[in-house]
Amino acid sequence: MVTAPITATERQHLTDLLARTAGIEQGQYPNPVVGAVVLRDGVMVGEGYHRVHGGDHAEVVALRGAGALCEGATLVITLEPCVHHGKTGPCVEAIIAAGIARVIWAVDDPNPVVSGRAAPILRARGLAVLPNAMPEAGRDLIKAFYTFHTQKRPFVYVKAAVSLDGFIAPDRQGLRYISGAASLALVHALRARVQAICVGSNTIVTDQPRLSVRGMGESLRQPLIGVVDPHNQVGPWVTTALDAGREVAIFAPADFAPAGGGDGKGLPPHPRLRVYTVLTADKAANWRAIWRTLYDRGVQAVLVEGGAGIFASIFAAGAFDELWITKVPQVLGSEQAVPFVYEASPMQLTLQSVTAYGNDAVMVYTNAYAVSV
Ligand SMILES: NC(=O)c1ccc[n+]([C@@H]2O[C@H](COP(=O)([O-])OP(=O)(O)OC[C@H]3O[C@@H](n4cnc5c(N)ncnc54)[C@H](OP(=O)(O)O)[C@@H]3O)[C@@H](O)[C@H]2O)c1
Repeated sequence: MVTAPITATERQHLTDLLARTAGIEQGQYPNPVVGAVVLRDGVMVGEGYHRVHGGDHAEVVALRGAGALCEGATLVITLEPCVHHGKTGPCVEAIIAAGIARVIWAVDDPNPVVSGRAAPILRARGLAVLPNAMPEAGRDLIKAFYTFHTQKRPFVYVKAAVSLDGFIAPDRQGLRYISGAASLALVHALRARVQAICVGSNTIVTDQPRLSVRGMGESLRQPLIGVVDPHNQVGPWVTTALDAGREVAIFAPADFAPAGGGDGKGLPPHPRLRVYTVLTADKAANWRAIWRTLYDRGVQAVLVEGGAGIFASIFAAGAFDELWITKVPQVLGSEQAVPFVYEASPMQLTLQSVTAYGNDAVMVYTNAYAVSV
């Protein structure tokens, strides 16, 4: 049986569904966010989202909402339905049992274990199936999950607050926010999306940052803190972070002082502290090693927060996917101010959005040539 192509009405419903699903808070890790609607004669009669890990899948919620109206109806989903018994039953079985006649989804599941398995099962039971109906938009909705499974590395965000004259701090005297309150809140929203934050050792020593998600709900799991520490500098701060209940990963060279090392810099062992001796003189290779390490820890998205040496080396390596620049209306120019980056880098960035947050402008760029590890 030949499946009829997607209609204009179905495409519009899928487009709207993708937009609504993008607005759902990301509490589903390690699952991706998913949305689903049931259509009868082009009219939506059921709607559902996968909101929290372990909660009902979007399809199940939408089917339940539509009830008896599912018989002979069309199900539109942002992602291929699952075929396996995870925390909930397989969605393909629920779809068949509900009497759905036609199923459309934006993109196949990128997880190689399940990818492409739903369509044959549904077709074998007589349903009309249109997989990969809007693959780019479907991928974009779940970019971290997608990158993690297809490229075996985390999706990498870089963010920086930069003054009008191109500096990221007035001096090196300690933490002083240059961005306004509205764009600082955005930083916390961005941190809430990731499982790890990555910073350079000088930023740790100078700013003694907390690097926590604040003001985003109590139950949120704080991201792992990854510190690039080539000169064995961050010991005292690590104790503070561990005391605050955080998980810490230190990326260090092979000669990093071992736990309790005799030079006084060694860190006592701690269950929430791991030292990865992956750094070499090749900074681009270091980023690949860091992403591989975070991938092995299940990190799907990481936020790189600076400072200048980190920005310079990550730009030179092209080792990121998205750049978030908060342009703040201040002129910091002085001998002490810290420049955004120290060296020229060839970049191929595409501007995606510019949004005002109070007096600051946040520009989001995508990087065309992100690394593959
Ligand atoms: N406005 C903002 O958004 C923002 C954000 C964060 C920090 N800051 C500011 O930035 C300043 C600190 O910047 P910074 O440049 O001094 O320090 P940094 O970037 O925090 O840390 C630099 C250190 O990281 C090392 N490093 C960077 N990339 C590496 C790689 N791929 N492999 C191995 N090591 C790598 C450098 O190695 P080498 O020693 O070999 O060069 C250097 O030791 C502070 O004043 C802080 O307030 C501003």
